[in-house]
Amino acid sequence: MSRVVLKEAYENGCEIELINLKYLQIKPCIGCMKCVTKLFNPNHAGECPIQDDMAWLDRKILEADGLLFVAPMYECSVPGEYRMMCDRLGPSHDITFKKFLDERSKSMGMAVTTDHRWYTPKPVAFITHGGSEWSYMAYPSVATPSISLGLQIVDKVHFDYNDGILTNECHMERLREMGRHIITMIQKRPEEREYVGPQGYCPVCHNDVMRLDFDSNKCECALCGTIGTISVKNNKVQVDFTEDAKILSHLIDGGRTKHGTILKFV
Ligand SMILES: Cc1cc2nc3c(=O)[nH]c(=O)nc-3n(C[C@H](O)[C@H](O)[C@H](O)COP(=O)(O)O)c2cc1C
Repeated sequence: MSRVVLKEAYENGCEIELINLKYLQIKPCIGCMKCVTKLFNPNHAGECPIQDDMAWLDRKILEADGLLFVAPMYECSVPGEYRMMCDRLGPSHDITFKKFLDERSKSMGMAVTTDHRWYTPKPVAFITHGGSEWSYMAYPSVATPSISLGLQIVDKVHFDYNDGILTNECHMERLREMGRHIITMIQKRPEEREYVGPQGYCPVCHNDVMRLDFDSNKCECALCGTIGTISVKNNKVQVDFTEDAKILSHLIDGGRTKHGTILKFV
């Protein structure tokens, strides 16, 4: 499926590269918190101490104008290798945290060392598939890197039951359409980009997995944390989100800054 999307992008003039995580050495995060403690203490260098292929993968992400992440379902989530990558792309890569560090360095008269390409919002699409219907967490688990990296989600697709994907012309065309859409979005300015995947409840990240509050009609997006209000109209669940709630999504600076405030370093 990755190849179908990338081939379409290639045939429409894109340079492409397929990276298979299975062939990289991405070690698990050891929770040393070095990447977090530097937020509290300017004297902490805070670099991730793990030596593996992550620096190489970082460079690939930085050099890309657009991204596609693809994963099968393993135990209702992404496989372990993918999850390890998500952890390693977590707080250490959070672009709001990076901005905070840059500002602090400037105010202390120190050099800003962050590669500015981390701040360019890249369009991203996601593909998940599973052998059955057990896939509720497919999207929130595959799309996790979009939070810390501040990616712009422009498309997603999920196939249950592996559904004869590569022999089904409708599915193949859907994948090719994804390839074309990513290119079109790369060529647009960030504020002009649009999402074309299936509708989700969350208006910010398009996720349809919500955490319900026991004591009220509030719910929270299981990916980006945007808070909404649930009602039922004509036997149909409706979730409303205020503009104030949307700007606190973790997919954008507002939500990540709030997260920093909760962690008490902002
Ligand atoms: C350990 C394991 C757990 C799996 N868990 C799920 C699951 O939770 N939901 C699902 O729909 N399929 C599940 N599957 C089926 C795989 O998603 C399916 O076989 C998929 O095609 C595997 O992709 P791959 O061939 O690229 O590894 C699981 C398969 C394995 C090996």
